[in-house]
Amino acid sequence: MAGPCGSSPAATTTLREEVSGSPAATEAFGERFGKRLRVGDLVLLTGELGAGKTTFVRGLARGTGSSAPVASPTFQLVRVYPGRVQLAHIDLYRIETPGELVDLGLDELLDQGAVVVEWGDRLDAHNAALVNLEHLEGDRRMIRVKRDLSPPRSPGRWPEAPDGGTGVSSAD
Ligand SMILES: Nc1ncnc2c1ncn2[C@@H]1O[C@H](COP(=O)(O)OP(=O)(O)OP(=O)(O)O)[C@@H](O)[C@H]1O
Ligand SMILES: [Mg+2]
Repeated sequence: MAGPCGSSPAATTTLREEVSGSPAATEAFGERFGKRLRVGDLVLLTGELGAGKTTFVRGLARGTGSSAPVASPTFQLVRVYPGRVQLAHIDLYRIETPGELVDLGLDELLDQGAVVVEWGDRLDAHNAALVNLEHLEGDRRMIRVKRDLSPPRSPGRWPEAPDGGTGVSSAD
């Protein structure tokens, strides 16, 4: 497997997984993830009905510094939570035509902040972070980060790498 200088990991590679035993634990996982969100980040959530996607977003929003109440944007399609980083919350469950995806104004939302999408597998977006929630038994859920957030992408914001590397730090 390539190191941090290699291409993005395939979406089939699970980078991190954790069993959540309660809605609060799923929110806490989401909150940790949300603290890392920046403007332009796109997070796709997958998982069956009731897997905990909206619960995860509740934590995600908290991590962005929002105290707004999080609910599935069933009728509006998009809900926006202001915070340290604005978070737009999209739910594609009811989307029926590709035209509706265009209407989302995704590019504009990504210019303004981060975006999280429930039923994110209905969106054809490469380079998005990918998180899957799987309903185990009872209140247990497996949370899998299949693709992590990209490093910061605006060219001027890359740190100078003194050793001629990419400037991406590696934990190991
Ligand atoms: N460990 C857990 N993590 C998340 N939710 C849990 C957990 N245990 C129980 N639950 C319950 O499961 C339900 C998850 O609902 P939630 O709306 O978050 O799912 P969802 O994936 O968004 O569903 P939908 O596909 O309808 O949008 C909630 O009622 C929540 O309280
Ligand atoms: Mg939901």
